[in-house]
Amino acid sequence: MDLGGSEQDPEMKEYSSVYVGREEDIKKSERMTAVVHDREVVIFYHKGDYHAMDIRCYHSGGPLHLGEIEDFDGRPCIVCPWHKYKITLATGEGLYQSKNPKDPSAKPKWCSKGIKQRIHTVTVDSGNIYVTLSKEPFNCDSDFYATGDFKVIKSSS
Ligand code: FES
Repeated sequence: MDLGGSEQDPEMKEYSSVYVGREEDIKKSERMTAVVHDREVVIFYHKGDYHAMDIRCYHSGGPLHLGEIEDFDGRPCIVCPWHKYKITLATGEGLYQSKNPKDPSAKPKWCSKGIKQRIHTVTVDSGNIYVTLSKEPFNCDSDFYATGDFKVIKSSS
């Protein structure tokens, strides 16, 4: 069937940027939520930088938009309100503290589990904020709660 070129390629649509709000508003609230091509994301404004990620925590689907931001090992992280997992705002890495069992008195060291939460791209144009979904082809743990049966849209708890 000839669609006459009027139908947009679904893949292109998924990765086109979407307007999510005004810069002046997020600078006041320091966070906002949005649905971008059927995927729920949270956008943080933290110390002059914007960060967008899947809204549901990779661990068990906790609501990251209700978490606090804290620095761990000098890296700003969102702390999930459910079980306190720490996720770096810039890269979506899960951080944990490791202890050397052979030296229990040694100071615990912050380590990365790798990228666990999918990070999306934020752009600002003329005071408008846009989010472009990540098209990184790896399987990210947070995809589980952002797609399929476990997806929850417009959640508040
Ligand atoms: Fe986020 Fe468990 S659901 S830490």
